[in-house]
Amino acid sequence: MKRVLITGGAGFLGSHLCDRFIKEGYHVIAMDNLITGDIRNIEHLFHLPNFEFYHHDVSKFIHVAGELDYILHFASPASPIDYLKIPIQTLKVGSLGIHNCLGLARVKGARVLIASTSEIYGDPTVHPQPEEYWGNVNPIGPRGVYDEAKRFQEAITMAYHTYHGLETRIVRIFNTYGPRMRLNDGRVLPAFIGQALRGEDLTVFGDGSQTRAFCYVDDLVEGIYRLLLSDYAYPVNIGNPSEITIKEFGEEIIKLTGTTQKLVLKDLPVDDPKQRQPDITKAKAILDWEPKVSRAEGLRITYEYFKSLPEEELYKAAYHREFLKN
Ligand SMILES: NC(=O)c1ccc[n+]([C@@H]2O[C@H](COP(=O)([O-])OP(=O)(O)OC[C@H]3O[C@@H](n4cnc5c(N)ncnc54)[C@H](O)[C@@H]3O)[C@@H](O)[C@H]2O)c1
Repeated sequence: MKRVLITGGAGFLGSHLCDRFIKEGYHVIAMDNLITGDIRNIEHLFHLPNFEFYHHDVSKFIHVAGELDYILHFASPASPIDYLKIPIQTLKVGSLGIHNCLGLARVKGARVLIASTSEIYGDPTVHPQPEEYWGNVNPIGPRGVYDEAKRFQEAITMAYHTYHGLETRIVRIFNTYGPRMRLNDGRVLPAFIGQALRGEDLTVFGDGSQTRAFCYVDDLVEGIYRLLLSDYAYPVNIGNPSEITIKEFGEEIIKLTGTTQKLVLKDLPVDDPKQRQPDITKAKAILDWEPKVSRAEGLRITYEYFKSLPEEELYKAAYHREFLKN
């Protein structure tokens, strides 16, 4: 049985990856300090003999007993509301955290895949963004803590590949959505659905003409799985190129939820990217991958998930359990 360590395993994407690797017959070790994750995302796996959970901070020394074939580094605050509140932890997990994972990978002879992001392109001047684009990031702007952590993470991963011959993979993830997102994490999709469910107006930042492209989580997981098993060590964009303005997206959510509320405009946050669309030519050519789930279908499943949550979840504020400790 192959053994995989998934850091950030109790988070939105990490928990879906745990499910996928369990389904593929792996022994899965999820490591998470629960700073933005939720144990409920993986509690359905706890009874399995081939699943383990380590409650641990990846930015501190990490050790896993026994062999490891793969390490997927997904631990990191991921939504602006999180990394603006916990900037130091964000920088640490993108630097010390990946350094620990790479060291462990060397000891175990494991292959490492890191979760990078479309945010490394910053506010892009090239559209759509191919992997060759170097990005337009403000290192000292509020979002710099996330973007630069992820850029450093790519750099150190590539250095371990080049200088130590470590097997590495880099996925640049574009906006992804699906069940187990948190309603209060500040990302536009749960924010809109949460507002609709609470009977509030839907808040659009700016004039709503900025674009995003949303990928359903099952499509993303398939792309990551294929990349891990491929022999390609350079970054690969995984995302859904179907682009939509935030205003149109808000209108789709109003239609989906049947809410009688309307869109209201607020000031655009600093450094908010105006356009975001993946160029997935490489993923198609190298991984024979492209998204399969339409936005209508993905949104329907996600809405059903949010509707099924207990009512108090609708009114919870964002939380960071270890916020004050670090
Ligand atoms: N969701 C997206 O659209 C998206 C887009 C681009 C990149 N990503 C990347 O994918 C990864 C997962 O994102 P997500 O959306 O699932 O976010 P998430 O917040 O749901 O999951 C992140 C998980 O990492 C854990 N974590 C954070 N710091 C940790 C630490 N020091 N030690 C151990 N665990 C720690 C959190 O508790 C959480 O469970 C992140 O690296 C993120 O940057 C996500």
